[in-house]
Amino acid sequence: MRVGTGLLKKAFVKSYGCQMNAYDATRMADVLGAEGYTATDTAEDADVVILNTCHIREKAADKVYSELGRLRVLKAARAEAGQETRIVVAGCVAQAEGAEILSRAPTVDVVVGPQNYHRLPDLLARSRTKRVVDTEFPVENKFDHLPTRRTLGVTAFLTVQEGCDKFCAFCVVPYTRGAEVSRSVAAIRAEAERLIAGGAREITLIGQNVNAYHGVGLDGGAATLPDLMRTIAALPGLLRLRYTTSHPNDMAPDLVAAHGDIPALMPFLHLPVQSGSDRVLKAMNRKHTADAYRALIAEVRAVRPDIALSSDFIVGFPGETEAEFAETMRLVAEIGFASAYSFKYSPRPGTPAAEWADAVPEDVKSARLQALQALLDEQRHAFNASFVGATVDVLVEKAGRHPGQVAGKTPHLLPVQFDAPTSTIGTVVPVRIVRAGSNSLFGEAVADAAAA
Ligand code: 5AD
Ligand code: SF4
Repeated sequence: MRVGTGLLKKAFVKSYGCQMNAYDATRMADVLGAEGYTATDTAEDADVVILNTCHIREKAADKVYSELGRLRVLKAARAEAGQETRIVVAGCVAQAEGAEILSRAPTVDVVVGPQNYHRLPDLLARSRTKRVVDTEFPVENKFDHLPTRRTLGVTAFLTVQEGCDKFCAFCVVPYTRGAEVSRSVAAIRAEAERLIAGGAREITLIGQNVNAYHGVGLDGGAATLPDLMRTIAALPGLLRLRYTTSHPNDMAPDLVAAHGDIPALMPFLHLPVQSGSDRVLKAMNRKHTADAYRALIAEVRAVRPDIALSSDFIVGFPGETEAEFAETMRLVAEIGFASAYSFKYSPRPGTPAAEWADAVPEDVKSARLQALQALLDEQRHAFNASFVGATVDVLVEKAGRHPGQVAGKTPHLLPVQFDAPTSTIGTVVPVRIVRAGSNSLFGEAVADAAAA
């Protein structure tokens, strides 16, 4: 029996986790698009369902198996109606668990790691006769084998670097995504040009450890992230540039300086610190102290005083005492974050910390997370509220929640809703903020922008 209805094959990609996964999901859609698949946003009418998974924390990985349970039922129902469904598990759970997924979830047809999704058409074809697993780290560069990007929007992610050599004691990334690899400036510029031609006005350069970027420059020499940013910022049509995620130890002086002298680079920095305790930071293998982080933030603020800071935190790392947790709270109180992600430590198989005995009890972890999140929420609300009454430049991305409204973001990455025609999508509109909600700002377009 043929798949679906011949030419009208449909693919559904569900992505979990980080921006890198969101980017990979669009590229998988491109790969299948080149094979004649159209995208659908429901699994029910999809001939191919791809779960692009995240392995960073236990909860994230568990979600995959519960979703596969639902897909098993769906696949059976579609089979009864004479429709075939191929189920693909991609992303970091695929990389970490490989063939184990096939035995735990008999409904899965293909398991494909993050380095291999350019081979999806071949894997799907092979899976007609035998379920397949592809989690090799191939010698060929997947970026050389991906079709032109089709998935377009006003804001776009662009992968410039993958993998991580840092080996933080809690983290699976160096195992699931492998060693650091940077793309060349020429390849990144070509992708950026296509994105801009397709309507992108803001590009976020992404990588697991993006500020360790060291690609081949246009002159054949080595290029740093600021070198790359200058090349991309100069492209006609691009209005805004961002980058994420960074490690404090790779915040080189030229990158700090870039925040002061690349006008397109937006005043927002996501710089995970994880903990405010030097003992915990050492155990985490972060290789910097809390004071070194404070000093770095002071340097960035010196060149860009209005920069919005964001971070990641882990509470309840093995052996974390109440006093050590208090150090994290102190660091947060001192620095002040515009936004942040905070997590309870969860042991990940294969990482050094997973072997350690001195676990923090679950209820203690929960209490610490609650206290930290309360402080971070307070800071986020204060940051959002500080814009009420101000006029800010909003890059309009899409139609808003209500008719007549559009939605976009400020330079500090805050979502804004305001009344304007959809013809403003892709442009920057000055907006006077009238109200701060918990997740969005609300404002009014400033009619006479030139006079404002
Ligand atoms: N447990 C809890 N949080 C984790 N992170 C990474 N690994 C773990 C883990 N084992 C968090 C870190 C990282 C973010 C992406 O996820 O804060 O910066
Ligand atoms: Fe994981 Fe980030 Fe540490 Fe790399 S730097 S090991 S991605 S937490």
